[in-house]
Amino acid sequence: MNKVAVIGSGNVGATTVQRLAELNIADIVMVDIVEGLPQGKALDILQAAPLMGYDVDVKGTNDYADIAGSDVVVITAGIARKPGMSRDDLLATNIKITQQICASIEQYAPDAIIMTVTNPLDIITYAALRCTQFDRNKVFGMSGLLDSSRFASFIAKELNCSVKDVCAMVLGGHGDSMVPLPEYSTVSGVPLSKLMDEATIERIVNRTINAGAEIVAYMKSGSAFYAPSAAIATMVESILNDTKRIVPASAFLNGEYGQHDICLGVPVKLGKNGVEEIIELELTKQEMEALQRSADAVREGISKIRS
Ligand code: LMR
Repeated sequence: MNKVAVIGSGNVGATTVQRLAELNIADIVMVDIVEGLPQGKALDILQAAPLMGYDVDVKGTNDYADIAGSDVVVITAGIARKPGMSRDDLLATNIKITQQICASIEQYAPDAIIMTVTNPLDIITYAALRCTQFDRNKVFGMSGLLDSSRFASFIAKELNCSVKDVCAMVLGGHGDSMVPLPEYSTVSGVPLSKLMDEATIERIVNRTINAGAEIVAYMKSGSAFYAPSAAIATMVESILNDTKRIVPASAFLNGEYGQHDICLGVPVKLGKNGVEEIIELELTKQEMEALQRSADAVREGISKIRS
């Protein structure tokens, strides 16, 4: 049986554990420093197994030694932003948490693939890569798939069509500078520009960019977790089942898209070795410039963790 460790038992962590359990593809261990919380939530999820028909072990723990043997470790721990804050405002706190977690992963699960979810996503992913010194294909962030799912859901709603026929793509950092790509977004193969006017596309693009903040503003305390956990589960499944889905993720770039020494959202092929390939899309000059602005914003954050 495969094994997945989920670090953090807040909304994102616990919902991720539930979704993974329901996929029935791995034993799961949920780790948190808060005593009792991961144990209680894991037990609750385990007790739903007879009703939901999954047959995997779900364990909650405060002891990192329990992540030993994990194929994938998902880092969700850290604080969430409040209305009016940017994701970058979380850096000072979340970087320390991430560094401690990475030291434990190195110690107990040195062969694992690490998926980061904690914000600011691209900077945290870069930090996790640098802390652990794992190969670049084994450390990446969940970001673009969430943003693309949001983009796709807004497109389907606007056109009153099934989301199943929508394919949407968002590149760049998981922040205000993300780059939704209408030209690479289609409904049954038909590009958006043939289906809606420019003003509508712009409205949907802006809503996608602000989608996380829209939910934070509604919730006042805490941030989205249903769509994020769905994106995490999709990516974990592609790794464990070696499905080789091509999805956008924050990956370490070494020349791809003209970028070096940075983690940024780009389409990747996800399989049993983690990021097995980085897919280079042909971008227009305007799209390249937008991606460069996004990379510059991420780089500014990275320079803070270096200093
Ligand atoms: C999201 O996009 O939902 C997350 O990055 C959380 C946030 O702060 O918006």
